[in-house]
Amino acid sequence: MSYDWLQSSLKTIHKAGWYRTTRTITSAVGNCIEVEGKQYINFSSNDYLGLANDSRLKNAAIAAIQRHGTGTTGSRLVTGHRALHDQLEQSIAALKGTEAALVFSSGYSANIGTIAAIVGKRDLILNDQYNHASLRNGSALSGATCLDYQHCNMPNLRQQLENHRSHFAKCLILTDSVFSMDGDLAPLSEILDLAVEFDSMVLVDEAHATGVLGRSGAGGIEASDCTNRPVIQMGTLSKAIGALGGYVAGSAILIDFLKNRAPSWIYTTALSPADTAAALAGIEIIRTEPEGRDNLWRNIRSLHNQFNLDQFNPIQTFSSDSAIVCIPQPTVQNALKLSQHLQNSGIFAPAIRPPTVPTSRIRLTLMATHTPDQIEMLSTAIRSYFS
Ligand SMILES: Cc1ncc(COP(=O)(O)O)c(C=O)c1O
Repeated sequence: MSYDWLQSSLKTIHKAGWYRTTRTITSAVGNCIEVEGKQYINFSSNDYLGLANDSRLKNAAIAAIQRHGTGTTGSRLVTGHRALHDQLEQSIAALKGTEAALVFSSGYSANIGTIAAIVGKRDLILNDQYNHASLRNGSALSGATCLDYQHCNMPNLRQQLENHRSHFAKCLILTDSVFSMDGDLAPLSEILDLAVEFDSMVLVDEAHATGVLGRSGAGGIEASDCTNRPVIQMGTLSKAIGALGGYVAGSAILIDFLKNRAPSWIYTTALSPADTAAALAGIEIIRTEPEGRDNLWRNIRSLHNQFNLDQFNPIQTFSSDSAIVCIPQPTVQNALKLSQHLQNSGIFAPAIRPPTVPTSRIRLTLMATHTPDQIEMLSTAIRSYFS
């Protein structure tokens, strides 16, 4: 009786076309994957540099398991801390050009723990309307007053600051640097200027930018020449870095504070030796092998060129300056149909639908390891759908 509502709620989800379920990947990860026994070219991975199946990361993880075991058995402040965590945090701080860094179990827990630690009931949070769910959920958990500003709209952010900033003790501006479901970039330098003008903090989510943007792969902050400005950078170890976990990078005092106040870091088991060692190897590759990033950008440019080949019938995409390229679709059904067409053509690129995003779309992600032939096959399959 008490649980009957679950059934009717699921029916509503089905009716709206919002029902989601898992698909089993039956091969190792890479630019080609087997999904439930069928082979596809993979245009839906966040493994931008193809490191998640790199033998150097796998060997580092195996060696860490041999040395330390599979689990860390406790939280960092009790029995979970290892020298490997220190090494990874130093390596992240070196990549990001910050004084210090702190590793969490995931990017999601880095966001919710950090936001809840640095703002509370008397404070204000301003979110870009398209921010990732982990920033929004962290905002709600913090107890602060949460307002949105229009996507990447700086006059609107200024307006919100002018209207509301003075009524609150502290203010935190939150933004993705690469928007995960659109692929466009936040105007980070302008956001940081406004933050100085209105005495506010800024936390930038570099999940889809780390390893992809910037001269040394540090992300959007580096690419916008903002490395030495007062900003809190967070990200994930699970996308271009090829492992699992999350991090925050910033001043030594911020990291010291988070160790004492971030609940999702204090009250959880420390990151596993395997993930920590794999992430360390992934960052080392990002720092020393720029050719991976060069290949990724060659592929990004190639896909844009293919889409723009036919001047009279260009394929419409959201504007994108990253490895994420989205094709908008008018309805959920249209998005599902295009995704099915791509699957029939041997390409895996799922439809992204509400409630994850306000409007339906196909989200394509490029990898450094895609070949020119694979990119051409993708663009041919999309063209054949629209022609
Ligand atoms: C923008 C953004 N922030 C945070 C996260 C969370 O990172 P993680 O998967 O490590 O929890 C993700 C993706 O998963 C993301 O896309």
